[in-house]
Amino acid sequence: MSDPLYQELADRIGGLIRGGTFASGSRLPSVRRLSREQRVSITTVLEAYGRLEDQGVIESRPRSGYFVKPPQILNGELPRPAKSIRGPVAVESPEIFKAVMEAVADPKVVPFGAAVPGDEIVPSRRLSSISNAVARRYGPAAFRYTMPPGRRELRTAISRRLLIAGVQADPDQIVTTQGATEALSLALRATTRPGDVVAVEAPTFFGILHLAQDLNLKVVEVPMDAQEGIDLDALEKISDRHRIKVCIVQPNFQNPLGSCMSDQAKRRLVGLAGKQDFIVIEDDLYGDLCHSGPRPRALAHFDNENRVVLCSSVSKNLAPGLRVGWIVPGRFLEQVKRLKTVHYLSTATHSELVVAEYLSGGGAERHLRRISALFSERCIRMREAVIEAFPDGTRVNQPRGGFVLWVEMPEDYDAEKLAAKALEKGISLIPGSIFSATCRLKHCLRLNCGFPWNDRAAKAVKTLGSIARSCGP
Ligand SMILES: Cc1ncc(COP(=O)(O)O)c(C=O)c1O
Repeated sequence: MSDPLYQELADRIGGLIRGGTFASGSRLPSVRRLSREQRVSITTVLEAYGRLEDQGVIESRPRSGYFVKPPQILNGELPRPAKSIRGPVAVESPEIFKAVMEAVADPKVVPFGAAVPGDEIVPSRRLSSISNAVARRYGPAAFRYTMPPGRRELRTAISRRLLIAGVQADPDQIVTTQGATEALSLALRATTRPGDVVAVEAPTFFGILHLAQDLNLKVVEVPMDAQEGIDLDALEKISDRHRIKVCIVQPNFQNPLGSCMSDQAKRRLVGLAGKQDFIVIEDDLYGDLCHSGPRPRALAHFDNENRVVLCSSVSKNLAPGLRVGWIVPGRFLEQVKRLKTVHYLSTATHSELVVAEYLSGGGAERHLRRISALFSERCIRMREAVIEAFPDGTRVNQPRGGFVLWVEMPEDYDAEKLAAKALEKGISLIPGSIFSATCRLKHCLRLNCGFPWNDRAAKAVKTLGSIARSCGP
């Protein structure tokens, strides 16, 4: 006897999911559409989806439809919080930094180094058609200087986008920047003086450490939990002991850990900043790249005292080369505008108009959902491959958003050595020491999963695994 119709349909869809036609996290066709396309009844589709739900392959979300569930990850433990707190100290850069950064820009190497999305993520056709339309519509005005606070069209579009993160900021409270780097630089310049103490996550994005170094700030490292983000008990103790001027955090999908703070933790951090009188600089660069469920709220949502300075850009979810970012400086608005005029003068007018148009047109949300599902899938594949290839005892994070993996090898393994040897084989990666103000975390490394998972990537992970084994005791 042949299988009932709903079972055949469930098998067919299950096969398409396994084959990658429907990526994990992506939405399945609606019940009505599938019934129409497959010429079966609505009841048959509901039965088929019900079967797949029972098998744990898909999930239904109220009022949204059916989605492919990310595979359960049972293998591999998460990285542990960095031990012992150092600081306040001046930031050191490891010697290997220059070589690693040069490799990151080399198109011939396997790009596990820089945290950049693959070219296929960039909606380049749409961007070039908007780009031409903007040049036609604005004429020479598209190529003039734009003084702070930046093009109103863009600030209005950002103001609307911020609502999705739970942040209410008028266009007049936003200053546009050339990427998040400029936003972070302005934020630090406006809130600190040389010698001030800044609390940073350990590990954290090295660009933050380099800005602190350049501005002669002292940093104190706060341990991180691979899932929950910054350790608030530790931060509280540190702020009792030292006069913290600023704390820089990435509450949503931290680079390099992919952790995401709960609303409760965000509320507690803002409360602590009020109690101990420090400013929080929020880097929300990866907040839109949520692997499943709704976009988490920005920390700034919980701020009633204008203590959180929010920084972000379109670099990770649209195109890094546009160099479009923003800052919501709160009480530092006037200082930020002045500093921007002194240090950067203008923003890139044409880019700002292009991004304004892109964000205002339809499709930006769909694009985010699509690329987040792709990143989720790629992180899962790469994580599995790393666990298989690397020495026993290696721990890997399970990012909840974004597209980087943090790999913690046993402590007697050397990721700087691994990075140098991997480069000889044409593979880039970033050793953990670069993410620490005190060049610790030498046994850790970060891998970029922003590009397609394919045979070349799988082979490169295997090669890394075997080199890693030669960098141990
Ligand atoms: C956490 C974080 N903040 C800021 C930046 C810099 O972003 P942008 O390219 O917009 O200057 C990066 C880039 O990798 C990053 O990972």
